[in-house]
Amino acid sequence: MSTIVSPSILAADFANLERDVKMLNSSEADWIHIDIMDGQFVPNISFGLPVMKAIHKHAEKPLDVHLMIETPDDYIEDFKEAGAEILTVHYEVCRHLHRTLQAIKAAGMKTGVAINPHTPVDLLQDVIKDIDVVLIMSVNPGFGGQKFIPSTVDKVRKLKNLIDNKGATTIIEVDGGVNSDNAKSLVDAGASALVAGSFVFKSDDPVQTIKELRNT
Ligand code: DX5
Ligand code: ZN
Repeated sequence: MSTIVSPSILAADFANLERDVKMLNSSEADWIHIDIMDGQFVPNISFGLPVMKAIHKHAEKPLDVHLMIETPDDYIEDFKEAGAEILTVHYEVCRHLHRTLQAIKAAGMKTGVAINPHTPVDLLQDVIKDIDVVLIMSVNPGFGGQKFIPSTVDKVRKLKNLIDNKGATTIIEVDGGVNSDNAKSLVDAGASALVAGSFVFKSDDPVQTIKELRNT
């Protein structure tokens, strides 16, 4: 089976979003990764709901939304309305993660939980069956174009064991600094979805780069 590829729109040309979304439509990309940053949880502000709605208007692929915000519970319905199919919240900001996951499901979306590089995968063991996608951060969230943290590969392996031991069907997605040098080791360790921003958009032929990542 091919690897799910979710190109991150953060690395697109924001003055030409329609063009770049159409390029993704024409590619083999499976999802489109949308990074929402609030300047609080992460030291950067990306874009918000109006821009996401504009992307959704042109997108023909599911929107894989990564919320890097302090209070995701306040915006679940808004992101559903803006076109999210997968809504990923950060473990580090959810005091009542189980409740948040139920709310995402009730709103009709797939549930995602992102974990920072310092957050151990074991913390997810009691809710793993409620999570459709775990997003393992392979950089500290906040910026595109950062260097991949190599210990992520071990973390993917640990999470894969946890998922298998619990009999869950959760997808492991990796985000940050993903490129052709690390993609294979991540997939071999158990990742089935890869986010890639700079590697896709800064390449000479993004459509071809997406195709190659899918064949990892
Ligand atoms: C980082 C974001 C990533 C980012 C990935 O906070 O969550 O999705 O866009 O970009 P690259 O692939 O350039 O590291
Ligand atoms: Zn992301």
